[in-house]
Amino acid sequence: MGSARYRPESDPSVGIEVTIARVGARGDGIFDPGGAGKAGDRVFVPLTVPGDRVRVRLGPVQAEGRRGQVLAWLARGPDAVEPACHHFGRCGGCTLQHFGDPGYGAWKAEQVAAALERAGFAPDRPVPLVRTAPGGRRRATFSVQRRGGAVLVGFKERLSHRLVDLEQCPVLAPELIALVPVLRRGLAPVLAEGGIAEVAVTRVESGLDLVLVGPDRLGLSARQALAELASAADLSRLSWQPRSGQPPEPVAARRPALVRFGGYPVLVPPGAFLQASAEGEAALTAAVLTGVGAGAMAVADLFAGCGTFSLPLAGVTGRRVLGVDGNGAALAALALAGRGLPGLTIGRRDLGREPMSPQELTGYEAVVFDPPRAGAAAQAEALAASNVPVVVAVSCNPATFARDAHHLRAGGYRLITVLAVDQFLWSAHIELVAVFNR
Ligand SMILES: C[S@@+](CC[C@H](N)C(=O)[O-])C[C@H]1O[C@@H](n2cnc3c(N)ncnc32)[C@H](O)[C@@H]1O
Repeated sequence: MGSARYRPESDPSVGIEVTIARVGARGDGIFDPGGAGKAGDRVFVPLTVPGDRVRVRLGPVQAEGRRGQVLAWLARGPDAVEPACHHFGRCGGCTLQHFGDPGYGAWKAEQVAAALERAGFAPDRPVPLVRTAPGGRRRATFSVQRRGGAVLVGFKERLSHRLVDLEQCPVLAPELIALVPVLRRGLAPVLAEGGIAEVAVTRVESGLDLVLVGPDRLGLSARQALAELASAADLSRLSWQPRSGQPPEPVAARRPALVRFGGYPVLVPPGAFLQASAEGEAALTAAVLTGVGAGAMAVADLFAGCGTFSLPLAGVTGRRVLGVDGNGAALAALALAGRGLPGLTIGRRDLGREPMSPQELTGYEAVVFDPPRAGAAAQAEALAASNVPVVVAVSCNPATFARDAHHLRAGGYRLITVLAVDQFLWSAHIELVAVFNR
C-alpha cells in the first residue's frame, strides 16, 4: 500500500507526491491510496519501481485509475537501476529496464503466481524463474517508415505511432541490430515518401530470414532492390507479404531457412513462429518433456507450429505423437522434418472453432497445448471434460492462461509444477509452462 500523502486534486495539472507501492501487470508503478480509496483512485506511473517517491502530474480519471507523469524524482526505490539502453523510456519495446533485481525477477514470477491464483490454484512456493541473457532475442518486427527522404527503422514509441530510429538494443541478438543500417539503405528504393512497412526478422541457423510486410504491389525495380538488400545483408531468405494478408512470397531465397528441434532439422516457412530466444526454447522444451514424462507413449501436441515440442517428443522410441496446428505451411515443415519418425502424425485444424473433443482425446496419456496470446478457451474446456491424465500448458499470456487453467481446475485437474521463463526480457510479458494431472 502506498504512503498516505495522496490528496486527489480538483485541478489535474497540479502535481502530487506519491510513493510507489508495487508494479502492476503492465509494468507501471502503482500508487494505491488504499483504505477508503476506490480502485479509480490508483495512480499508474510508468518507469517507476516500488519505493520510488515522485511528484506526478495526474491524467484524467479512467476506470482503473489515473496515469501519473513524473515531474520530479524525490527518492529512488532500492531496485531502481540505470537502464541498459539510451532509447529506454521513449521506445515502446521495453517497459522495465529501470527495474533491477531482486524486484524485477520476483515481479516476473509473481505475474505467473497471480494467474494461477486467479485460476483457483494456490501455489505453495514461489514460482521458479528461468532468466535469459540480454542479446538473446532472435525474432523482432521492426517498423519502417520513409520520411523526408530517409528510412527510419525501429520500434514504435510508447503509446504512440511515432518511430524510434534504432541505434542500439540490448535485447536483440547482435545480428538483428547489425541489420538495421542495411535496412535503412536497402529499403529506400522500395518505399515511397511517407510509406510504412514492417520487417519481421528471425535468426535461423542459416542466417537471417526476413519478411517485408507492406506494399500491396511490388514492381520489378523494387524486387531487384530487395534482391540486392538480401545479398548485401547475406540473408538466408527475403520474402514479401502484402499488407492485405496473402501468405509471404519469397523474393530472394539464398539458403534454406534451417532450425533444429531436438536435433531434427526443420526448414521453416517464411514468417514461421519460433520461440523468442534459443535459451527460452530450450527451457520450455525441457519443461514440456519433463511434464509429459518419459512413460507417456501417446501424446498430442496442440498448437504445434513447426514442431518445437512435437519433434523432441516424437524422438522417443515407440511413442505416438500427434501434432495439430491451424497453419498448413508450419505443418508441412513439421511433416517433412519428421518423415523419419514413424510415431509422428500431423493434423490441420482450427482448434478455436473445432477443438479436439474429449472423445478424440481418449487414449492420449499427455496433451501439450501452446496457443497464441488469445489462449485456447474452447480447447481447455474440452480438455477439462476429457480423461487425459497429464496436461502441459505453455503460454505467453498469463491473463488468457488464467482463464484456460480455470477450466482445467473446474474439470478436476491439479497443478503439479509451474515454471516461468523470462524470454521477453524487460517487457511486461512472460512465458510459462504449467503441468496438471488428474
Ligand atoms: C505460440 S505458437 C506455438 C507453436 C509451437 N508450439 C512452438 O513452440 O513453436 C501458437 C501456434 O498456434 C497456431 N494457431 C493459432 N491459432 C490457431 C487455431 N485457431 N487453431 C490451431 N492452431 C492455431 C499458430 O499457427 C502457431 O503455430
